[in-house]
Amino acid sequence: MAFIVFEGPDGAGKSSQALALLKQMESTGYPVILTREPGGTPLGESLRTVLKSSPAIEPLSELLLFLAARAELVETIIKPALTNNINVISDRFTASTIAYQGHGQGLNLTDITRLNQLVCSGLSPDLTILLDIPADLISSRKSKDTQDRYDSASGAFHSKVRQGYLSIASQETSQWLVLDATKPKATLSEEIWAKIRPLL
Ligand code: TMP
Repeated sequence: MAFIVFEGPDGAGKSSQALALLKQMESTGYPVILTREPGGTPLGESLRTVLKSSPAIEPLSELLLFLAARAELVETIIKPALTNNINVISDRFTASTIAYQGHGQGLNLTDITRLNQLVCSGLSPDLTILLDIPADLISSRKSKDTQDRYDSASGAFHSKVRQGYLSIASQETSQWLVLDATKPKATLSEEIWAKIRPLL
């Protein structure tokens, strides 16, 4: 069974590629679920609403809320699915916390890594697909009315997040696929499927 994660800055097109992969896997006959972070459980979806709608939360409080949502998702959805031979696709996972709260907000990377390990207790993605886009395109790819507080953060913040992602991907190259998210959607979906199919 495979645990596949999509990562990337806001507006990179993760959610539509995750959905395209879900449909591709379903139509090819593979058992699969799609989930997202923060979210994917009743508690996680409530925390998502809090995190997305609150104008300002202390970085440490924010970190702990993301981790609480993850702990619930790992224990009640992801681990049971994999145990029952169901593949899992997740729209964001641990690398989001390292990129946003670590590289973006400046919280300690070692602490975040340790907390991620505690929350995941041995679970790690088989493949993380990074949809990479230049920082100056990040907020322009979402319409103004669907932007939340992370989308409207400064270009400097998004640039740090992007560099964070690239740095993690360069340290774990065998478990990461980095794609240029400015390519057409269909081309990206084909590249993703070509990489995933042998893993299944
Ligand atoms: P999205 O899933 O619609 O992209 O929105 C989730 C937002 O939450 C996005 O701005 C990234 C942010 N986020 C973090 O800052 N840390 C995390 O650990 C996760 C999972 C998401």
